[in-house]
Amino acid sequence: MAEPTLTVTDNRTGKTYTIPIDHGAIHATELAQIKTGPDDPGIKSYDASFGNTAACKSKVSFIDGDRGILLYRGYPIEDLAEKSSHLEVAYLIVKGELPTASRFAMWQHNVKMHTLVHENLKRFMQGFRYDAHPMGMLIATVAALSTFYPEARNVTDVESRRMQTRRLIGKMPTIAAFAYRHNRGLPYVYPDNELSYAGNFLAMLFKMTELRYKPNPVLERALDVLFILHADHEQNCSTSTMRIVGSPLADPYAAVAAAAAALSGPRHGGANEEAVTMLRQIGSVGHIPALIKQVKAGERRLMGFGHRVYKNYDPRAQIIKQIAHEVFEVTGKNPLIDIALELERIALQDDYFVKRRLYPNVDFYSGIIYEAMGFPVDMFPVLFAIPRTAGWMAQWAELLTDEEQRIARPRQLYTGYGSRPYVPIEQREEQGAEETEMRGPL
Ligand code: CMC
Repeated sequence: MAEPTLTVTDNRTGKTYTIPIDHGAIHATELAQIKTGPDDPGIKSYDASFGNTAACKSKVSFIDGDRGILLYRGYPIEDLAEKSSHLEVAYLIVKGELPTASRFAMWQHNVKMHTLVHENLKRFMQGFRYDAHPMGMLIATVAALSTFYPEARNVTDVESRRMQTRRLIGKMPTIAAFAYRHNRGLPYVYPDNELSYAGNFLAMLFKMTELRYKPNPVLERALDVLFILHADHEQNCSTSTMRIVGSPLADPYAAVAAAAAALSGPRHGGANEEAVTMLRQIGSVGHIPALIKQVKAGERRLMGFGHRVYKNYDPRAQIIKQIAHEVFEVTGKNPLIDIALELERIALQDDYFVKRRLYPNVDFYSGIIYEAMGFPVDMFPVLFAIPRTAGWMAQWAELLTDEEQRIARPRQLYTGYGSRPYVPIEQREEQGAEETEMRGPL
């Protein structure tokens, strides 16, 4: 069968071009040949915020937004959440296949070897203010890790990439837990490698004077499932940041710090924090209509709702709703769940949300569970960053081994002034300058 192509006619010149279609896409660089003359740089594609632009080929995860499907390396998220563990899923994401029993034992050993951090890193964290946001501490501390492992700059070396991947997956929970203990003025707890990945994290967070912390198995499993649900998610904002920062061959600690910084935004991983804050502000079911009114008037967004790709439902939100009940059996019910369920019910019947295909996303219910488990809201984005590290590292390695990838360098459509003469300061008009200042974005 002939290769699929697209035929484009430039109505300015009447010329026709045949452009190959590759995996359902045209290469944007093909458009550069469409010119009106030798001085014309050619057509560019314009896609503010990458609404319909593929920036890479990837084998890591796949979303079918219309059918609410999420696959990691081909495995449905529902199966992984039910049958797997986060460390096994991290192996799958990083290596591409599920491990055999012996490979998994080795992987667990290799990750747990790296749960400790240098004592200087601990002292670095002690330098933060008592009330520093844990996400800020995480971002800065991960960036600081690059100074401890200068060999990580050798990003073209596969053994170095593997080592940094194990280190980052191993150390993220430790740094996250230290940030939590720092805010509480509690001594930092060192890792207990006899425990599971999630169990050890709970121990580093919540251990007090007991000799050995025993995590509640229901909460340990719930946290592990939440980690599985957050491990990767195609080319989302933080993953794209990881790839962009990785593309000039920056070291992986700098790139993960940048990815975590992107994740911290309230429209991304910070939405779980915002969603719980919003539910608390609503306070009771009776106040929901007033909030919906504000949202419809464009005064605020319903946090934890909406997604660029999912347009019917987010399968992760469905799984989280089920876990919530198991967690509440142990912790007691978080009263915010009733407000959340009613808010979802009302919103899904409302034309505004139906027309825009806005559904609860992963962040709508995750925060309610985290809160019931005893996490303060500012830890929520940190809980997102820990498991996403596996996805970031897998996508980073994919970028570095993809021969089609070069330094990320988008083009722009310039809408500013043409070349104009420099005006000496004493000749500039006062009135115009003031006006410019008032109008400008900064
Ligand atoms: N509440 C109210 N209206 C919304 C919302 C919302 N949460 N999300 C989108 N809209 C409206 C938006 O105002 C726009 O309306 P109009 O066409 O009238 O201007 C329309 O829906 C399309 O919105 P958009 O901003 O163009 O959509 P997007 O694909 O750029 O944004 C989003 C996706 C997730 C950033 C957005 O839905 C949002 O801000 N949601 C709230 C924050 C949130 O929950 N983020 C977590 C995302 S899932 C976890 C993760 O991966 O980070």
